[in-house]
Amino acid sequence: MHNLISISDLSKNEILNILNLANEFKQGRVSDILSKRIIASCFFEASTRTRLSFDSAIQRLGGKVIGFADSNATSLANKGESLSDTLKIIGAYADAMIIRHPQDGAARLAHDVCNIPIINAGDGANQHPTQTLLDLFAIMYTQGRMEEINLGIMGDLKHGRTVRSLIDAAKLFNMNLFLIAPKELRMDHDQLFSLKQASISYSFHNNAEEIIDKLDCLYLTRVQRERFIDNENINFDSYCINSGTLDKAKPNLKILHPLPRREELPEVIDDTPFAHYFQQAADGLYVRMALLEILFT
Ligand code: CP
Repeated sequence: MHNLISISDLSKNEILNILNLANEFKQGRVSDILSKRIIASCFFEASTRTRLSFDSAIQRLGGKVIGFADSNATSLANKGESLSDTLKIIGAYADAMIIRHPQDGAARLAHDVCNIPIINAGDGANQHPTQTLLDLFAIMYTQGRMEEINLGIMGDLKHGRTVRSLIDAAKLFNMNLFLIAPKELRMDHDQLFSLKQASISYSFHNNAEEIIDKLDCLYLTRVQRERFIDNENINFDSYCINSGTLDKAKPNLKILHPLPRREELPEVIDDTPFAHYFQQAADGLYVRMALLEILFT
């Protein structure tokens, strides 16, 4: 593996290798695989978890980080330089690039114009493959398996790049999908067609209560209002959970969320045994350490 642009770049075995190595890091594995390496961290869009866990992972592996968290201070934003030229230049200064950008395909563009490994940290509404790796780690860690997991996915399934990547991975592990979203924010036809082609079982639901007793994991997502073109008047009340939603949940149901959360996941859930989202985000450090070690081995 030399790049991670889309989760589909990885085979099932490559994903399992990353997750196993992540577990070793969680248990205390030490590595200095990035000593003498400089990694560019280029965040053209806001981030807390992805940027800082990558920065921490790089430094724990002995590497150095250059880059920016506010692209307003670059010549791209202030002098009219093209994104392509900007990426080409950054590619000359670093041994790998981690890029987040609001435009679909920006990581692919970086791959096309640079001669260094590229890791996609989220491009528009397209893909967020490292988030999916840590989502899969959370499923594996809490359920002991990923095959044939009953996975509920609730919220904005149209604009969410974490959902798009997760769906692609779900196909590899033959997961059963329960899709809970207003009809305006369901996945697009291409994604549903790809599920059909992969013979993945999926069904549509208007609230979590009607299927909560079947689920092993419930993956909630934030409504991505910043990516709306229209649909401003959709009522999301049925797509927010509360304690009552979980009355009939299996004892080992785990609630996952890529975070940040909003009203869909109230704080009252944090103290229940179902909450796993903060641990999910914390374990992202180990998953990103594992990914970087494999990328540079
Ligand atoms: N889950 C996620 O990508 O979070 P950040 O936007 O904070 O990086």
